[in-house]
Amino acid sequence: MRQRSRSWRGAGLTIGLVPTMGFFHQGHLSLMDQAIKLSQRVVVSLFVNPTQFGPSEDLDKYPRNEDRDIRLAEERGVHCLFMPRPEDIYTPGHQTWIEVTEVSKGLCGRSRPGHFRGVATIVAKLFNIVEPDMAVFGEKDFQQLQIIRTMVRDLNFPVKIYGHPIVREDDGLAMSSRNTYLSPEERSQALCLNQAVGLARELVLEGCRQRSEIEKKVRDLIASYPLARVDYIFIGDPETLKEPETVPSPALIALAVHIGSTRLIDNGLIP
Ligand code: PAJ
Repeated sequence: MRQRSRSWRGAGLTIGLVPTMGFFHQGHLSLMDQAIKLSQRVVVSLFVNPTQFGPSEDLDKYPRNEDRDIRLAEERGVHCLFMPRPEDIYTPGHQTWIEVTEVSKGLCGRSRPGHFRGVATIVAKLFNIVEPDMAVFGEKDFQQLQIIRTMVRDLNFPVKIYGHPIVREDDGLAMSSRNTYLSPEERSQALCLNQAVGLARELVLEGCRQRSEIEKKVRDLIASYPLARVDYIFIGDPETLKEPETVPSPALIALAVHIGSTRLIDNGLIP
């Protein structure tokens, strides 16, 4: 992989990277489109990274369809789909980890201990293997994007990071590889995440500035969906990911909700 990248660089071409875990949907494909616009060669990595899954999480059943992914990436004009095997990435004796301490603490970091250590480490490894000029990440995983930006700043990675807006289904559900786990009933109740984002936005724009008041109303909304169980509701600062009682401006509303046994996330910026 690195040889390929270096030969492109030697020919004066710029290189963009889109890290993924595959099972492509329109969200992934939009990231690829953006990378193709911004750089002359695009590498998409497809690696279901075991170190970012907790022991009771869905590593074994994470959806995969490599043949379809290869076809979609090819049709998109991606120049290289990098699909390493786990044993090539984590060789025996692997013991080095990257932890972005502060911005990893709340939100998904609280309910998924070790998750962001796995994410930061694999992304750093991919940056070192591919040596891209730029990389594109989705705002769907807002905290992940902040962690990557912080890591790049703190460790001087020569990679420019671009965020891409959330791509949604027609009815507003944020696209996710995990949506495939949902039964029809769960699929319709999953709309509560986007509705919660919309409600928080409405309340703030109407002038409500009390974080706890907004959180309570969002919680009540989600409680009206019998299959939904709140993991967290965050309303706070999009940069620091801190939650002062007075809602800052701009504000981020981000949440994770279990719909049946599937955990989904969504978020929105409130200007
Ligand atoms: P994965 O969940 O496959 O997502 C790959 C990229 O697609 C991430 O940057 C994610 O934010 C983006 N993405 C997913 N759904 C999106 C949507 N609906 N709209 C816009 N972008 C979306 O995130 C990961 O993989 C992994 O943690 C990874 C970064 C690859 C490290 O293993």
